[in-house]
Amino acid sequence: MVKTVIDAAWQAKERAYAPYSHFMVGAAVLDADGRIFTGCNIENASYGLCNCAERTAIFKAVSEGCKELQLLVVCSDSERLTPPCGACRQVMAELAPMMKVILVNKTGQYLEMTVDELLPLAFSNDYLLKKRKEES
Ligand code: THU
Repeated sequence: MVKTVIDAAWQAKERAYAPYSHFMVGAAVLDADGRIFTGCNIENASYGLCNCAERTAIFKAVSEGCKELQLLVVCSDSERLTPPCGACRQVMAELAPMMKVILVNKTGQYLEMTVDELLPLAFSNDYLLKKRKEES
């Protein structure tokens, strides 16, 4: 199954829209029902609107009703492993805190991480929900 998710991420990378950075990224997430959702980075002439591959995949999954994301794979053309940006890490902490994250490169190197390792001490919904409970 992991191999299928990795293959899906590589295929998604081919669909990256990255005319400005030319840095093509692919991602794929697996949910608890075995569904796979892919994502690529999608850039914009108004640079601040660029969306990373990871968030594309996660948002696609959540918008299709996925409640439990188990695995995210990230790949790019770089010979190095591609670490998710800070914004994507924060989104993972919110929507899939227990998800495994696997970074892969073309030479077959990979690194498996937890969301907590990627973003320790994340500001999470827990703080807001606790605060509301304390107030009521
Ligand atoms: N990018 C991703 O899609 N994911 C990452 O993990 C790192 C960066 C994209 C955003 C932008 O389109 C390009 O790579 C260069 O930053």
